Amino acid sequence: MTTVAVLGTGLMGAGMARSLARAGLRVRVWNRTAQRARALAGDGIEAVEDPRAAVQGADVVVTMLFDADAVEQVMGPVLETLDPRAVWAQCATVGIEATEHLARVAESRGVAFVDAPVLGTRAPAENGQLIVVAGGPPAARERVAEVFDAIGSRTVWVGERPGDGHRLKLTLNAWVLSVTAATAQSVGLARRLGVEPRLFLETIAGGPTDCAYAQLKGAAMIAGDFAPSFTLAGATKDAALIERATSDAGGEARLMGALRGCFEAATRDAGDPAELDMAAVVRAFA
Ligand SMILES: NC(=O)c1ccc[n+]([C@@H]2O[C@H](COP(=O)([O-])OP(=O)(O)OC[C@H]3O[C@@H](n4cnc5c(N)ncnc54)[C@H](OP(=O)(O)O)[C@@H]3O)[C@@H](O)[C@H]2O)c1
Repeated sequence: MTTVAVLGTGLMGAGMARSLARAGLRVRVWNRTAQRARALAGDGIEAVEDPRAAVQGADVVVTMLFDADAVEQVMGPVLETLDPRAVWAQCATVGIEATEHLARVAESRGVAFVDAPVLGTRAPAENGQLIVVAGGPPAARERVAEVFDAIGSRTVWVGERPGDGHRLKLTLNAWVLSVTAATAQSVGLARRLGVEPRLFLETIAGGPTDCAYAQLKGAAMIAGDFAPSFTLAGATKDAALIERATSDAGGEARLMGALRGCFEAATRDAGDPAELDMAAVVRAFA
C-alpha cells in the first residue's frame, strides 16, 4: 500500500489528506501547530509530531505549507531521511524561482522532485476535485499518479522542468485574483454610488459577462461572510509572486501591482489576513 506524508494541514492540506485516505492510501500528517494534525487522526490517517517521523518510509511526500520559506524550513532538515525511491510532490504555491531552488536542493540530496501546485480551494481539496498543474521528469510521473488522482479530478502535466507547474499556476492565479478584485471593485462602486450591490450580480447573471467565481465571491462580499477558503494572506503572497514573475519575464506588471496594493490595503484594515477569505479585499473599496 502506498504511504503518503502530508506536511502542512491547513485549509488545503487537511482536505487533501482526507481525500488521500478516502482513496485507500496510508496517510501520515504533520503540522507545525500539532492540534490541527491531531484533529485528522483516524480513518486511515496517522498524525505524527515530527516531520521526520512523517516522511520516514513514505513513497510520496506532499508539502502544503504557506510559502517557500516554510517549505524549505520544514523539508531541508528531513530530506536525508527520505527513502531513495520516494518522490517529493511540492504542492504549495511558492513561485517559479523558489521552485527551481527547492528542486536544486532536492537534487543535491538525491530526491526526485515534482512541482505540483493545485487549482481549487478548500471544498475541492476536501472532495478530491483539485486540478494539479505539474512539472517534473517523466520517470517520476507514474510514482505520483495515485496521489494526484486521489486529490484531484485532473492532472495537467505542463512540462518537464521544475517551475513548469508554477508557470501555469501563476497564470491561473492571475485570473483568479483579478476576478476577485474586480468583483470587489464593482461591489464597492455600487455601494458608493448608492446602488444595491446585489443588482450588479443579478444583472450580469447568465449573460456573457457573468462568471461563477464573481457570483460566489460577490455574494460573500455583500454578505460580509469572510470565512476562509483562500486566505487574504495567501492572495497577497500570490499577487507578489505573480508581479515578480511578470517583471522577471519582461512583462507588464502594473495591473498585478495594483491588485497587490488592494490586497495589502484590505490586509491592513481587516484583522488577521490568515483568518479571512480573500473576499475581504472588498474592504479596500469601502
Ligand atoms: N486555500 C486555497 O484556496 C489554496 C488554493 C491553492 C493553493 N493554495 C496554496 O496552498 C498552500 C497552503 O494554503 P492553505 O490555504 O492551506 O493555507 P493555510 O490554511 O494558511 O495553512 C498554511 C499552512 O502552512 C503552515 N506554516 C506556515 N508557516 C510555517 C512555518 N514557518 N513552518 C511550518 N509550517 C508553517 C501552517 O501551519 P500552522 O497551522 O502551524 O500555522 C499551515 O499548516 C499555500 O501555498 C497556498 O497559497 C491555497
